[in-house]
Amino acid sequence: MERKWWHDKVAYQIYPKSFFDSNGDGIGDIPGIIQKLDYLKDLGVDILWISPCYPSPFADQGYDISDYYDIHPAFGTLKDMDRLIEEARKREMYILLDLVVNHCSDEHEWFQKACADPNGKYGNFFYIENRKDDKLPCNWRSYFGGSVWEPLPGHPDKQYLHLFHKKQPDLNWENPEVREEVYKNINWWLDRGLRGFRIDAIINIKKKLPYKDYPADRPDGLSCVDHMLADAQGVGEFLGEMRDRGFASHEAFTVGEVFNEKDEELPDFIGDNGYFSTMFDFAPVVFGGSSKGWYDRKRITPDDYKRCCFHSQKRIGDIGFLSNIIENHDEPRGVSYYIPDGETSLHSKKMLAVMYFMLKGLPFIYQGQEIGMENMKFSSIDQIDDISTIDEYHVARNAGCTKEEALKCISLYSRDNARTPMQWDSSENAGFSSGKPWLNVNPNYNNINVKKQWNDPDSLLSFYKELIALRKNPLYRETIVYGDLIPYLEDRHNLMAYFRKGERTLLVAGNFQKKSQDIQLPQKCQKVLLNNYPNADITDRVLHLKDYQAVILEL
Ligand code: GLC
Repeated sequence: MERKWWHDKVAYQIYPKSFFDSNGDGIGDIPGIIQKLDYLKDLGVDILWISPCYPSPFADQGYDISDYYDIHPAFGTLKDMDRLIEEARKREMYILLDLVVNHCSDEHEWFQKACADPNGKYGNFFYIENRKDDKLPCNWRSYFGGSVWEPLPGHPDKQYLHLFHKKQPDLNWENPEVREEVYKNINWWLDRGLRGFRIDAIINIKKKLPYKDYPADRPDGLSCVDHMLADAQGVGEFLGEMRDRGFASHEAFTVGEVFNEKDEELPDFIGDNGYFSTMFDFAPVVFGGSSKGWYDRKRITPDDYKRCCFHSQKRIGDIGFLSNIIENHDEPRGVSYYIPDGETSLHSKKMLAVMYFMLKGLPFIYQGQEIGMENMKFSSIDQIDDISTIDEYHVARNAGCTKEEALKCISLYSRDNARTPMQWDSSENAGFSSGKPWLNVNPNYNNINVKKQWNDPDSLLSFYKELIALRKNPLYRETIVYGDLIPYLEDRHNLMAYFRKGERTLLVAGNFQKKSQDIQLPQKCQKVLLNNYPNADITDRVLHLKDYQAVILEL
């Protein structure tokens, strides 16, 4: 694996709508991000991925873009974005934006023109089919529920395809003119000083054509898009072209949101000269998923979590560099999800931080994760904004769940858990905004906020700072960034332990339970590098781990 400038960095995801509101309209904005750059720098992060801040009707919170060359006024202006890029550069930080090009918004001028003249140039920017009788071209189910087909506005005899919401028509990547538009936009942003992109939902750009049905997997007679994606060949041709025509000349850093990739495709995706620099490891995220819906998902256990992480590490080997997460804007809060119910504590939060952060790969921190923000306790579906959560609520109800059961299940998985405003301090609205926040603040902000944790050496925030500093420590950087990952006592219940072996040998061990447990050390411990308890109890090479204790030892 070729070494790259970004391998030893730490990345951080900003969901701009909920990060920091500088003008009191209840919506976070780019000037707000600029005001918090020093906070992020002090935390130790280098790469900032900012979720979409382009003009958008917000049907899917900005992942429905109506203009790829501008900034939504609620977030600021292009000038603000230029200033952010410049202010970040001064601090040796790098900005990534979201590249959302599987689809655009139905309010984008391309789609408007396609509606005005479906047989003209822009009709071919989308997947538009004639409507015959009542038979749809195929039975694929949109990710947000219902058929992927929707009547084309103004043309009852035609329909268009949307794998996501109906306000997110899919762009026709088979059309070279569409691809040219995408590459033009990528280069336009990179010319402005952007360092790269997080690439949204990209595996969806290749459709299996001609359209055909797949076996229905719910009573609605529709089929999850995954079946079609597994069948579609040739996404690599598009991705290779996008790398060569879009990313290559600026050596852009890219992180792909890729699900469903096949083992044999890994070198093409993130090997040397892969389509992307890196991609997220979603193995723990997708674990337990059900084609029936969230109500039927299997909750991940600590042992499952460990197995998922190790499986991904083995699978990737030395092919490339994964990006590791415990949460993002599409997932529940990691500390509420991966730690069993009732066991979320400062110790367990720190343990989870150690476990994922020390894996081989690029660690991403999602805003608020560093202070241990938790899931929201929703008491009614009316508190939910997210379209996918609302759909899953109805899926659960239609499958026979009571209102309470449906609410319980969507509360666990809802994307809105991660989208509540960032908790800066204990003032009104958690210091996020002086106005009414667009989404309710988690009521626990009095206890969980940046201000309270910043000067507390025992806080989760201070612990994250230590973890980041350790990754950057010249004595350990080589081992932490490039050392092999070798699982230790892999089958031991509720223990997650692994070596990082390079110049030095480190043992990372976490007791994933309240009950203490002992483990035998293979070698004498030279030094305790990090510990979420004041002491590490080691006698005769036996390490005694307390309730959710995690240690990083140098052997
Ligand atoms: C990605 C985004 C998600 C969005 C979807 C459609 O999965 O992370 O938030 O809804 O793509 O753009």
